[in-house]
Amino acid sequence: MSYQFLEKTLGLEKVLPISENWSAAADFLLLISNYCLTHKPKTIVECSSGTSSLVLSRCCQLNRYGHVYSLENGEEFARQTRQQLEDFSLSAYCDVMHAPLKDYVVDGESYQWYDLNNLAVTDIDLLVIDGPPGFIQKHSRYPGIPLLAPLLAKHCMVYLDDAAREDEQEIVQCWLSLYPAFQAEYVANERGCAILKR
Ligand SMILES: C[S@@+](CC[C@H](N)C(=O)[O-])C[C@H]1O[C@@H](n2cnc3c(N)ncnc32)[C@H](O)[C@@H]1O
Repeated sequence: MSYQFLEKTLGLEKVLPISENWSAAADFLLLISNYCLTHKPKTIVECSSGTSSLVLSRCCQLNRYGHVYSLENGEEFARQTRQQLEDFSLSAYCDVMHAPLKDYVVDGESYQWYDLNNLAVTDIDLLVIDGPPGFIQKHSRYPGIPLLAPLLAKHCMVYLDDAAREDEQEIVQCWLSLYPAFQAEYVANERGCAILKR
């Protein structure tokens, strides 16, 4: 699955800025695009900005509905994503928030996770988790659902990238035992994707 196919699917006239090691894979981006274009979520939150922000914002533009709130721990990456959104004339569809990692205690364990002080949303329909990077700590992305749970809509979807990794598989099992209302599906694409539905 190539990024060119994704660009064509989204009707983009510019080449998506891809960072070989850091951008989400094209097949993951296509999965979240297909969901967005079919279900037209209103409030989208993503953990980590970049190519995924452009893709989700383009879906909102095509849908004429919805908005993306992107949590980004790196100030320079936040600036870069904002510039890319501007280059694609998509700035109106996405707020990239510089959200430095800060200390949290979640279920008795310490984690570094995005500062949520500036995230003023409720009823998140779609949560896309592609950060923080795995090397920061064990179960790096685990706090995503526990910390955002009060902000999730009653019926919502969560897409977790890199779910082929053992760490992510353990995270999904923990989420399911803590939040039994979610049902999980695994997509065996390039890096694996876990889809949780409630
Ligand atoms: C796996 S990347 C995913 C970014 C985004 N979801 C995308 O699709 O492009 C997760 C995080 O890695 C960091 N990052 C991005 N590019 C990087 C680079 N070239 N070197 C180091 N860290 C990077 C950023 O903080 C970003 O939020």
